[in-house]
Amino acid sequence: MRRSRIIGCGSYLPERVLTNTELATSVDTSDEWIKERTGIESRRIAADGEMTSDLALKAAQGALTDAGLDAQSIDMIILATSTPDETFPATATVVQSRLGMTGGMAFDIQAVCSGFVYAMSVADNFIKAGQVKTALVIGAETFSRILDWTDRSTCILFGDGAGAVVLSGEDTEDENSPGILSCHLHSDGQYHDLLYVDGGVSSTGSIGYLKMSGRDVFKHAVEKMAAAMREALDAQGMSAKDVDWFVPHQANRRIINSTARKLGISSENVIITIDRHANTSAASIPLALAEGRADQRIKGGDIVLLEALGGGFTWGSCILRW
Ligand code: UT7
Repeated sequence: MRRSRIIGCGSYLPERVLTNTELATSVDTSDEWIKERTGIESRRIAADGEMTSDLALKAAQGALTDAGLDAQSIDMIILATSTPDETFPATATVVQSRLGMTGGMAFDIQAVCSGFVYAMSVADNFIKAGQVKTALVIGAETFSRILDWTDRSTCILFGDGAGAVVLSGEDTEDENSPGILSCHLHSDGQYHDLLYVDGGVSSTGSIGYLKMSGRDVFKHAVEKMAAAMREALDAQGMSAKDVDWFVPHQANRRIINSTARKLGISSENVIITIDRHANTSAASIPLALAEGRADQRIKGGDIVLLEALGGGFTWGSCILRW
């Protein structure tokens, strides 16, 4: 049996902090409304000229340092992003070059807010198939560039950032060894109109802005993420009480609370970053993992459950033993 084990975590947030109060000076909203409806207090915004690859590179360097590896030891980079530097090439190849990595392969994955869960699953499959030994999985976004800053229903929700993990394939006969236990991915394209960007290469030739029917997305998010979490627990013959850390995609504090409540996971077992990061899409889970690891809440042997839902819709879960 081969397991993909997380051996390093890294993260990076742009310096600029944008608080709710500051945002309320340019759109018709308030700190109170945003906090009460979303749990968000502030978010980070990339500086002019600071690109997704810049954020991703710093998170990747942090993860490599944490793992005690240099870039040449990596066989594969998967970068989950919906806000790439350019239409092509893949931002992952920019990161590859800037890390000084000349071998292996690098590519992007686009599954919006579920991007990191998708990327973990793809990396896990490459490792289990024996095609790669070590993978760098990154979630990095500059959502500030696709927001309509005059639309209060969306611009208050998102932030920029990056998180990364290094996965290493380890052969074992022990069922209790650390690593990814299973990943469960889903999509259903009929929900396109509830969450999308109204521009693109082959449609408008422009970048476009994020559009969302918030209330509908909220409803689907709770129901679909709870189902994906149950699927992961069932696959492992586990129940909610086996989960040491629930590390959800950080879209809305109320969504996180409702999902945890549906499963019977206590709020003490949930890692929350939304108050300071807002929704960083594919970066939110690796940012939260890096935080939980850095402050030593997540310990060796812990069962960690990840879940996300994003545009498409795409959604899914990963369950792992740290
Ligand atoms: O990563 C996955 C993608 N995203 C999500 O998962 C987000 C899912 N959705 C949500 O988080 C929530 O639906 C929102 C936070 C977007 C909105 O919260 P809500 O409780 O669903 O509010 P609502 O859209 O039902 O709006 C309630 C009221 C409306 O006013 P009326 O029609 O009741 O007079 C809105 O116009 O709040 C108003 N409103 C605001 N007021 C102050 C909407 N945005 C704002 C705002 N400030 N920023």
